[in-house]
Amino acid sequence: SDPDLVSRAKAAKAALGDRVFVLGHHYQRDEVIQFADVTGDSFKLAREAAARPDAEFIVFCGVHFMAESADILTTDAQQVVLPDLAAGCSMADMAVLSQVEKCWDLLQDLGIAESVVPVTYMNSSADIKGFVGRNGGVVCTSSNAKRALDWAFEQGEKVLFLPDQHLGRNTAVLEMGYSLDDCVLYDPHKPNGGLTEQQLRDAKMILWRGHCSVHGRFTLDSVQDVRERVPGVNVLVHPECRHEVVTNADYVGSTEYIIKAIEAAPAGSAWAVGTELNLVRRLALAHPDKQIMFLDKAVCYCSTMNRIDLPHLVWALEELVAGRVPNQITVDPETAHNARVALDQMLALP
Ligand code: 13P
Ligand code: SF4
Repeated sequence: SDPDLVSRAKAAKAALGDRVFVLGHHYQRDEVIQFADVTGDSFKLAREAAARPDAEFIVFCGVHFMAESADILTTDAQQVVLPDLAAGCSMADMAVLSQVEKCWDLLQDLGIAESVVPVTYMNSSADIKGFVGRNGGVVCTSSNAKRALDWAFEQGEKVLFLPDQHLGRNTAVLEMGYSLDDCVLYDPHKPNGGLTEQQLRDAKMILWRGHCSVHGRFTLDSVQDVRERVPGVNVLVHPECRHEVVTNADYVGSTEYIIKAIEAAPAGSAWAVGTELNLVRRLALAHPDKQIMFLDKAVCYCSTMNRIDLPHLVWALEELVAGRVPNQITVDPETAHNARVALDQMLALP
């Protein structure tokens, strides 16, 4: 990265000292990750944000929903900064509050809402987390989805899972013994979600029709192709991948899990990794004694994660040094209160 920007980032961080804490998601660029005080998956970063009450400013190098969660979990005196406001998440955008409320109204009209527990993936807006909190549900991440669903099925008979159909389906079917027939797909763009009354009544898992466009690019062909090219390869994927990809992989887990699996792998072993490219590249560089490759032939970065680059980080830090708070992310108090109920429920999972 540009040496001038590197020295400016260092100087700004030094000037701010303990007043600033920089969080970096594993999908961030190398040029940004070098300035993170801590790196992690969504779950670890939420906990880290909550555990830093003394930092006046939390600079979140990640995407919008993560910064919102950090704002909810930090004190009122702390300010959360997202270095580029365009760093959103297409998956989170697939569930809009008005659509979810319409779905809930339908479940109420059918008389089944009382038996449904809403569960939302961390990758959702604060509005959606607030909806889930005020309806007795829980937030989950890719590292605790099974525990969150176990808890939800103790509270009710059915789950409405938002917004990632793949994480919901993969967890229910591959980790909890539900069948594909126990899952239905609710499409917010179709009347009644495109489902019949009977389908909604019979379902155990009502999956929202959302997905990650980055992980959605891996296909069964990618898996079969790498197995042919590299005999003995271990296929390691994120649970946001399609069901047939996860079913045919050897290992599945969150970004933190993926990193630990590669660290624990024996020298000389080969790994095809199905997750965002910044992370896979970094793993390959850090483990030259292992053969680490990207699961697909085409490159795929998360374009919104990549919005946070060194120029944006330097700008944000220098603004803080100058006494201004740029791109502050705030959640209104009522939404924050309800969302916090669902986030605290997640943090309290066994
Ligand atoms: P995790 O880091 O929690 O596995 O999440 C992956 C992701 O897609 C974040 O946007
Ligand atoms: Fe959203 Fe997928 Fe990017 Fe994660 S990788 S921020 S889920 S689009």
